[in-house]
Amino acid sequence: MNSELNIRSKRKDQHVKHALSQKIDGDSDFNHVHLIHQSLPAVNLDTVNLNACFGEFEFQSPIYINAMTGGSEWTKSINRKLAEVAAAVKIPMAVGSMHAAIKDDSVIDSFKIVREKNPDGIIFANVGADVSPADACYAVELLQADGLQIHINAPQELIMPEGDRDFKNWRENIIETKKAVKVPVIVKEVGFGMSKETIQTLVQAGIKYIDVSGKGGTNFAEIENRRRFGQDMNFLFNWGQSTVVSLIESKPFQNDSFILASGGVTSPLDAVKSIALGANAVGISKAVLEKIQTDGVEGTVRYIEQFIVHMKKISVMVSAENIQQLQKTPVVLSAEIESWKRQRNL
Ligand code: FNR
Repeated sequence: MNSELNIRSKRKDQHVKHALSQKIDGDSDFNHVHLIHQSLPAVNLDTVNLNACFGEFEFQSPIYINAMTGGSEWTKSINRKLAEVAAAVKIPMAVGSMHAAIKDDSVIDSFKIVREKNPDGIIFANVGADVSPADACYAVELLQADGLQIHINAPQELIMPEGDRDFKNWRENIIETKKAVKVPVIVKEVGFGMSKETIQTLVQAGIKYIDVSGKGGTNFAEIENRRRFGQDMNFLFNWGQSTVVSLIESKPFQNDSFILASGGVTSPLDAVKSIALGANAVGISKAVLEKIQTDGVEGTVRYIEQFIVHMKKISVMVSAENIQQLQKTPVVLSAEIESWKRQRNL
């Protein structure tokens, strides 16, 4: 194994290890969003249909396993299990960053296993915004992917001593990559959330699918600090916009783009609140990773099946029988979130 690959593989393993041991802050912004209980729901649970059809995508359920792993032996086994879960419950799945596979054939299997285990499922390839259009096409081809996620993770790069420092070319590269690949492109954050300025830039660049991946769950500011025990930028642990705030920031663009929610989604209630704030589907990373580690494939299949049933039950309680109705369901926001909204003219 060459030394660059060795560093990447080790980093991947460390990300998983630290993500699993990370404690999530108890006060989630999802607690600042209230759905309105309806005592006379005109809905039959058996006919609630949460198919998520938006743009070129058709998801049987509105949740997906978001990008995490691949690139090492350990993460290959995690990818295999995640793919088995995704195939069993028929939800889309993204792999983690494919840089290692682009650079070195010896770790390709840790990603390809996902397609082997889930030949008919919806799978997203994943690259960073600095990867060349040709390499992005290669990543898509490796997985016969149905979509390409391009992650934007500037704070993570800046915190890593070995990370990128120059982001001037990201926007152009995203535009060129979108032109080059033959599948839909989803631009995603990695847990720092998005602003209306970022979303506007993406929409103007022609990006239709945007995963705001907000603060509130996996925290890469903390992970990157802990990885080197340096704590040199530990004042950034609270950096970014929560998923709730990011969805509110996305409001002006929800007619021009398809917004996806992720970041700190730990319950069916969080997922339904995300949809009520305008998301078309909801990505989960850490909660699924934890489940796989503790309860294996069967336990995680049960967890996701139940998650979807519980989302349907909450839909009944707000008297909505599909995603479109859920997206229109009213919400009440806390004074804090309302103040953010006001100050940002949203
Ligand atoms: C991630 N995430 C991520 N995202 C990405 O686009 N490419 C990647 O390679 C990774 N790697 C990765 C590893 C691990 C161990 C975790 C937990 C997460 C970020 C992920 O897709 C998501 O945006 C955030 O984790 C927020 O969601 P959760 O974890 O709070 O549900």
